[in-house]
Amino acid sequence: MYAVVTCRAAVPEDVEALYQLIAGYAERGIMLPRSREALHRQLEHFVVAEIDGELVGCGSLCKLGEELVEIRSLGISEGHKGQGIGSKLVDTLIEHAAKRKLRKVMALTYEVSFFKKNGFEVVETSIFPEKVWADCRHCPKQDRCDEIAVLKVLDI
Ligand SMILES: CC(C)(COP(=O)(O)OP(=O)(O)OC[C@H]1O[C@@H](n2cnc3c(N)ncnc32)[C@H](O)[C@@H]1OP(=O)(O)O)[C@@H](O)C(=O)NCCC(=O)NCCS
Repeated sequence: MYAVVTCRAAVPEDVEALYQLIAGYAERGIMLPRSREALHRQLEHFVVAEIDGELVGCGSLCKLGEELVEIRSLGISEGHKGQGIGSKLVDTLIEHAAKRKLRKVMALTYEVSFFKKNGFEVVETSIFPEKVWADCRHCPKQDRCDEIAVLKVLDI
């Protein structure tokens, strides 16, 4: 029986745990790093998952165009993967996107099977003209990006 997981909007008290979770993945080249300052600035775009007050996952939304939004910084702490928490966070992020009338939810990822299970399809990166790849200039892999683009169009 899994513990009760709560997904909620991030608050300033979450920043340190968010920073540590993202930094762990950034060190392995799976996510872009986020400074504590950037996290404070972007906090309204983050959701977190917690179990008994412990932050065990996070994800954020970044608006890229009129209808297009990207899921970023989606990660579950080691030891809590494979328990449905990532899917719950994706559902929460999708609810937030739908409320904002952002119908096209995309991600750049290595976790294609996970996103497919959550109703996303693989698409060509070239279909995203609105995405200016603004963050890519900070990415060590900008000239050899091997992430896959996935998209879910919401029925709203
Ligand atoms: C990808 C990630 C967010 C998934 O979160 P999770 O909580 O482990 O996933 P869930 O338990 O919700 O999995 C949902 C389903 O996807 C499957 N799944 C999860 N990760 C998978 C993977 N790497 N490959 C294949 N299937 C996967 C699960 O088996 C599950 O299927 P089921 O419903 O049939 O049992 C998590 O593994 C993670 O933090 N990865 C590292 C960071 C990362 O790559 N983030 C994505 C950046 S966009």
